[in-house]
Amino acid sequence: MSRTVYVSGDFVPEEEAKISVFDRGFLFGDGVYEVSSVLDGKLVDNRAHLERLKRSLGELQLGCPVPVDEIPAIQKELIARNGLTEGTVYLQVTRGAADRDFNFPPDPKPSLVMFTQQKNLIDNPVAQTGIAVVTLPDIRWGRRDIKTVMLLPSSLAKQEAVTRGAADAWMVQDGHVTEGTSNNAYIVTLDGRIVTRHLSNEILHGITRKAVLKLAARDGYTVEQRAFTPEEAYDAAEAFVTSASTFVMPVVKIDDRILGNGVPGPVAGKLRQLYIEMARAEAE
Ligand code: PDD
Repeated sequence: MSRTVYVSGDFVPEEEAKISVFDRGFLFGDGVYEVSSVLDGKLVDNRAHLERLKRSLGELQLGCPVPVDEIPAIQKELIARNGLTEGTVYLQVTRGAADRDFNFPPDPKPSLVMFTQQKNLIDNPVAQTGIAVVTLPDIRWGRRDIKTVMLLPSSLAKQEAVTRGAADAWMVQDGHVTEGTSNNAYIVTLDGRIVTRHLSNEILHGITRKAVLKLAARDGYTVEQRAFTPEEAYDAAEAFVTSASTFVMPVVKIDDRILGNGVPGPVAGKLRQLYIEMARAEAE
């Protein structure tokens, strides 16, 4: 069945949703995006996603065609029109159409696009088995804290991972893991500490990361926010990734090293359960 898509003010069937070939998102990757999850037809942690959107827009001096505070109403209308109960809402703001020129247009007309994707986020069979990841060089730009649509390095890395029989890649810079291609990366040490890279321009400041670290601390886990090496990860008790579209996803293999018994570990399982409970309770 055809979805209804939002394109700069209009709700249209997806076949009719069109953006100009001169859109700077298409020509320059000049745009930012957010992905919010939907549970029981309600948005999870959406305020935090929209706060990050505001920050990304500001960092690129990019305007939004509607006030960001009015976006939740559009997202909810889109969820309702598509009858979405579980999945994601994707939204993207680009600097809009202008004759091709590296400089920003003097009078930009940004575009705003949104669409929904149905996904089983809670009963995701992959969470039962966990995923394998491979480590690859991080060839992305230096402002990964901005959620831009320039995703080619991540797409190439994920494709390379699949070619090598894994599900995803953990990207490595200066001998340390930055993050997954579309998620934040964690290990659990043999003595039970949760380690994930500290916030900087080198990683996206994950909304799920923030929520999961809060839940972990509340549940008594020791959390260390610091860089870790692939070698440290090989010797970890467990590993996992977090994102709006996977919540907490166990990692059971890194390169050719199987972690523990090769099945999802208890810490990842516990955090996944705590996150889902919180997300369900607080979705709006
Ligand atoms: N990706 N790191 C990167 C590079 C990401 O692209 C994402 C999200 C995350 C996790 O952020 P959050 O917890 O806010 O979803 C970390 C989204 C889901 C995507 O591109 O589809």
